Amino acid sequence: MLRRLYHEQPESFAFTPANHAWAEAQITKYPAGRQASAIIPLLWRAQEQEGWLSRPAIEHVADMLGMDYIRALEVATFYFMFHLHPVGAVAHFQICGTTPCMLCGSEDLIAVCRDKIAPEAFQLSADGKFSWEEVECLGACSNAPMAQIGKDYYEDLDARAFRLHDRGNRCGKAAGAGAAERALCLRAGIGPHQPERIRERARAV
Ligand code: FES
Repeated sequence: MLRRLYHEQPESFAFTPANHAWAEAQITKYPAGRQASAIIPLLWRAQEQEGWLSRPAIEHVADMLGMDYIRALEVATFYFMFHLHPVGAVAHFQICGTTPCMLCGSEDLIAVCRDKIAPEAFQLSADGKFSWEEVECLGACSNAPMAQIGKDYYEDLDARAFRLHDRGNRCGKAAGAGAAERALCLRAGIGPHQPERIRERARAV
């Protein structure tokens, strides 16, 4: 699957003071000369700060780690956990489309995303809160089809469970969630078993 940097890039990137201090602390965990091993957590923190990984962010992390830009770009473009495009402010749905998931119905999940979020991958929903993309194997093939949303995996899905209907609303009510959270569950179609991270992100927006 082709993964390219977004066509519009910001001029620059800098960690917030708190994130910069956190990143410097991470780097000290590695032996001298092995600081590049900190690239995954630093790229992840940059993404958490900005919502996605821009070229200036990747290069900033490379500078902190004394790496060639191309080495940092190789990491950022290899792992699907890194979003190279702007994504929804609340949730970015990553649907595995590799063979086991495809055979078990991932195309139905993608159809739900097209219908309820936006017709095209990386296209933001009308309210800017949601986006989706198809990704390669995420290592949960035995429970295909699956989707990843942020740090969470959702497995053994089908379109009915995934569809954005009143199931999310019931989830929100059952958990005592507020209106914004219920709306998020409603939009996300997240079942009652694992909504906490999603609600956390809804509260943050
Ligand atoms: Fe979908 Fe492996 S094929 S998780």
